[in-house]
Order: sequence, then structure tokens, then C-alpha cells
Amino acid sequence: MDVLESLGVESKASLPERYAQLSVEEMEARVREIKATFGNRLFIPGHHYQKDEVIQFADARGDSLKLAQICAEMPEAEFVVFCGVHFMAETADMLTGPDQKVILPDMRAGCSMADMADIDQTEKGWVKMQEIWGDTILPLTYVNSTAAIKGFVGKYGGACVTSGNVKKMLKWAFTQKERILFLPDQHLGRNTAFDLGVSLEEMAVYDPISESFEYEGDWEQVKVILWKGHCSVHEKFHVSHIEHIRERDAEVNVIVHPECTFDVVQASDYAGSTNYIIKTIEAAPAGSKWAIGTEMNLVNRIIDEHPDKEIESLNPFMCACLTMNRIDLPHLLWSLEKLEEGEVVNQISVPDEVTKYAVLSLERMLELS
Ligand code: 13P
Ligand code: SF4
Repeated sequence: MDVLESLGVESKASLPERYAQLSVEEMEARVREIKATFGNRLFIPGHHYQKDEVIQFADARGDSLKLAQICAEMPEAEFVVFCGVHFMAETADMLTGPDQKVILPDMRAGCSMADMADIDQTEKGWVKMQEIWGDTILPLTYVNSTAAIKGFVGKYGGACVTSGNVKKMLKWAFTQKERILFLPDQHLGRNTAFDLGVSLEEMAVYDPISESFEYEGDWEQVKVILWKGHCSVHEKFHVSHIEHIRERDAEVNVIVHPECTFDVVQASDYAGSTNYIIKTIEAAPAGSKWAIGTEMNLVNRIIDEHPDKEIESLNPFMCACLTMNRIDLPHLLWSLEKLEEGEVVNQISVPDEVTKYAVLSLERMLELS
């Protein structure tokens, strides 16, 4: 199954050959021109993990929480050309009005983590969980999930979370039910629950492939059920990288995203969301040394923006998130030129029956954030 099929989308169009012949300068000039023509009718949100060639044109730059909040307050934009990944564009579609069109410049820009929980697996797993624990579980989903999973969570009274508000949301969830099902990132769930005082013995893992639980303790003690998903980018940081850096220079501060494994987060000096990482480095004194464990487009940008600090990637062989990188200058220009011709390509449109419940989980998150 290719990425498109796994996303459940059909690409009705793909990038024409001629974009390969254009120079960067020509493409940049055309994007500027089209943006000026459309004015407020066009809005381009850009996630921090986007390439420089794209993020330079973003009207707002942010993490997934900030972009969701901004999209919810952008009534004048007729077209939202989302520079990020598929689940973010779905979120934007659900939070914008019915007349606003959300476009993803390349439909192949998915998220491998979001693909690790599909709705059939989730419904099957939920039945098993109800059999064991009864009506004691509230589902929470990281926004890095499909609209269908957000809908499932909304239907059962739960909410979305982002790395920026996950602690607050988990605390809230425990005021609602005795147990939490955390989808689809086991690491974010484990790291956050542990931070809030839940022990590892109180966390079970549900494997949607084998349809079974990884747990050896007393089932009654389980407080958090972690979905067995992960981010293939953040899993590339290992404790050995931290040890290596500390052996080389004990003054280096290690800061990582909570999608990294539990061992990496425990061994690091600081862990937090994309926004937390950016703010921490901004506030750090000149001359301080940092090793950052997160996506590489962002790390490179942080390095460029802070020449007064010594910053490196925690993994020296790290690369960017490949699916975020699908959104490049040619695809951005192509989607804008199509709009100029009056054609909307790669529109993201979540069906009403999914939006109905998914929006509940997003609104609960936005209210509590
Ligand atoms: P943020 O929620 O920090 O924006 O992260 C999104 C993401 O995809 C992290 O891998
Ligand atoms: Fe998904 Fe990981 Fe890429 Fe974020 S970095 S979009 S979680 S694959």
C-alpha cells in the first residue's frame, strides 16, 4: 500500500513536469506575485518542521497547537494552503468554515505515526478494553492522528492533545475517568504520564497488529493504556548519543521532544514540545551549548537563528521528516498557480459525519488549552 492509499486519499493531480525546469528565483517570484494578488483571500500556515524554501512564505509559523488555534480564527481566508502534513490540514479543514477550502500542496505529505492507528483497529481494540476494564476509560489522541480517530475520541467524551498541552490534558482526563487510552504515540503518552506520577507498572501497551496487550502486572492497576505507535523520526535518538556527547563535553545541555523514547527523555536535561524547545534555546545565555533531539529542518533553523550559541543535533546523522519535506517550493507554487487559474487541487475535505465528532475532541482541547 502506498502512502496515499494508507491515508485514504486519492491524488487527482500530480506535479507537472514543467516545474522541474523553473529556477528557484522564478518560483519564488511567482509565489510572491500570487500571494500579493490574493491578499487576505489566501492564508498559508507553516509548521516549524517545513523546509526554509517553503516556510519563508508562511503567513503564520507555529507548532500544531498554534496552527490549529490560528486556523480556527481565520474567517476571511477563502483558501488555506497548508504547509505541514495531512493530519494538520484535516484539522484546519474541521476548524475552518464550510466555505473555506483547505489545500495540501502534496497529498503524499502524511505522517507515519498518524498511520499507525486506523479506525478499524481502534474500534476492535476498544471492544477488548471494555471487556477488561468496563466503562472506566477515556480516550485521548495526539493531534498526530487521522480525523476518524479524532472522531472516535470525540464520540467517547475524550479530547485531542498536542505536545504543547499534553500534561494539562492528561490531568483533565483523569478527572473524567479512572483510566486513559492514549493514541497513537506510546512515547508521548508514557513520558507524560510518568511525569504526572503514573508508574511504568501502571501502564499497559496495546499492540494493534497482534491485537494484544503487552502487560505483566495486575490488570486492575492499569491507569494508562498506550497505543503501540511511534514517530519514526524521534525514535532515531538513542541514549548512546547522549552518552557520547556528554563524554565529549560535559557542558552540553541535552533537550529533546517527548516523542523520543522514555530512556532518551529520562537521560536528557530537558524535554518538551516544539514550542518549548524553541523558547528554551531563545532564553539560553550566549555561549551556552545545546544538543537538540528533534526534527532536522527545525534544528537547522534554530542553529541559524542563534549564532551566539553552540547548537548541534543530538544525532549527528539525523535527517528531516521525509513526509514534511514533501511540501516543497514546486508543489507550493503549483497549488497556488492552480488557484490562480480557478482550480482547487489537493483539497482536504473531511466528511461531515467524521467532522461532527472529531470537532468535539478538538474543541475540548482548544477550550482547555
Ligand atoms: P508539535 O505538536 O510539537 O507541533 O509536533 C508535531 C509533530 O509532528 C511532532 O513530530
Ligand atoms: Fe509524523 Fe514524526 Fe514527521 Fe511529526 S516528525 S510529522 S510525528 S513522522
